[in-house]
Amino acid sequence: MSKLKFPQDFWWGAATSGPQSEGRFNKKNRNIFDYWFDNDKTAFFNGVGPDIASNFYNSYKEDIKMLKEIGLNSLRTSIQWTRFIKDYETVEIDEDGAKFYNNVINELIKNEIIPVLNLFHFDMPMELQEKYGGWESKYVVELFVKYARKAFELFGDRVKHWVTFNEPIVPVEAQYMYKFHYPLIVDGKKAVQVLYNTALASAKVIKEFRNMKNDGEIGIILNLTPSYPRSESTEDKKAADISDAFFNNSFLDTAIYGKFPELLVEILKKDNVLWDGTLKELEIIRENTVDFLGVNYYQPKRVKARESGFDVSKGWLPDKYFEHYDMPGRRMNIYRGWEIYPQAIYDIAKNIQENYKNIKWFISENGMGVEGEERFKNSDGIIEDDYRIDFYREHLTYLHKAIQEGANCFGYHTWTPIDCWSWTNAYKNRYGFISVDLPTQIKTIKKSGYWIKKVSETNEVEEWGK
Ligand code: BG6
Repeated sequence: MSKLKFPQDFWWGAATSGPQSEGRFNKKNRNIFDYWFDNDKTAFFNGVGPDIASNFYNSYKEDIKMLKEIGLNSLRTSIQWTRFIKDYETVEIDEDGAKFYNNVINELIKNEIIPVLNLFHFDMPMELQEKYGGWESKYVVELFVKYARKAFELFGDRVKHWVTFNEPIVPVEAQYMYKFHYPLIVDGKKAVQVLYNTALASAKVIKEFRNMKNDGEIGIILNLTPSYPRSESTEDKKAADISDAFFNNSFLDTAIYGKFPELLVEILKKDNVLWDGTLKELEIIRENTVDFLGVNYYQPKRVKARESGFDVSKGWLPDKYFEHYDMPGRRMNIYRGWEIYPQAIYDIAKNIQENYKNIKWFISENGMGVEGEERFKNSDGIIEDDYRIDFYREHLTYLHKAIQEGANCFGYHTWTPIDCWSWTNAYKNRYGFISVDLPTQIKTIKKSGYWIKKVSETNEVEEWGK
């Protein structure tokens, strides 16, 4: 089997988020998921909510030790706005929250694991959602900048890699279009405003970061889902272009070029749903682009021109211009219902190289959620997740090819280090290098954890298919 060598100092790590790993213990402020769970447990798989998650709030020391043991050299997590800030308007800090994040950062550094800190991972404080409509409001954008400033002030001496948002398109679609996150609204016009306000929030935070003369770097993490057209017909290709403009290039173009895609603006104008924005704001977006990019990749989009009528009772949605279809013969992760298409990682890398200034970037999430992993336990109690190792090897083989051809990729993070809580899917699908037994919270390294240790020590991966 031939070995693929990765660049020197490559990041071999993993990603999680505050709400999905920490647990809510003694926390007064609620985010939208905490609130939703308190009010409707049936919305969550097996009625499991964010209360305990993987107990990181209490077990961060032991957990970080395990991450060291499996050779990770970097970890991304997020600060919970609700945990760190007591009063969102006066920006009064929650002392326990601040102490916790300080401890986590120190512990990571002590273990020679680079901390990558994200400021927002779907977890809008409920109070701000209720009072102002969350990202619908530009006032909330200002409060977000204030919160970010506090984080930079307190942690910027040790954290050198910051991220403004994880997957900013997700709240747009999940909260305002397709009803998979609270407040379960279908309102395309609001969705467009939320998209604009989040791009603005990211740029304003970057501006603040630079004004403060922090010596680290700041980026954004986007879930890129390339839209592959069903055919080479003009109609199918146009459908895929519009899907890309809305779901991928909206944030990619603003993050890297500081402007929205022309195709997107043209369509929104034509349909009379363009955001409410000012020239001054567009200037801020233009002037505050990212230092680096994180790419979460799980699945592609398969797109065709609409064949069925668009349900106008839903009001305006970008879906009026395209439809999804199931590509015949596609490979599926049946547990998550997502297509497995590793070639897309190469296509994404080439797109960044050729069309996005070859900016430096890393894979900030890639992973395979599997249900019922206990059935793969061996007699030593270790889950033998060879399917996950194969999944990673296959994706890394495509990534390596792109790097050989000049892609500026500096790392690979998987989702996720330790099995964690996954929003409405709760603990249905497990993604970790380390398993969690929910009732006892006992954590055990899986076979893939031993695999990544070797990869990180040697900086080599066994080529897939050879
Ligand atoms: C990413 C998110 O979209 O995918 C994570 O950044 C999420 O928060 C992960 O957990 C896996 O998706 P899911 O829905 O299976 O948890």
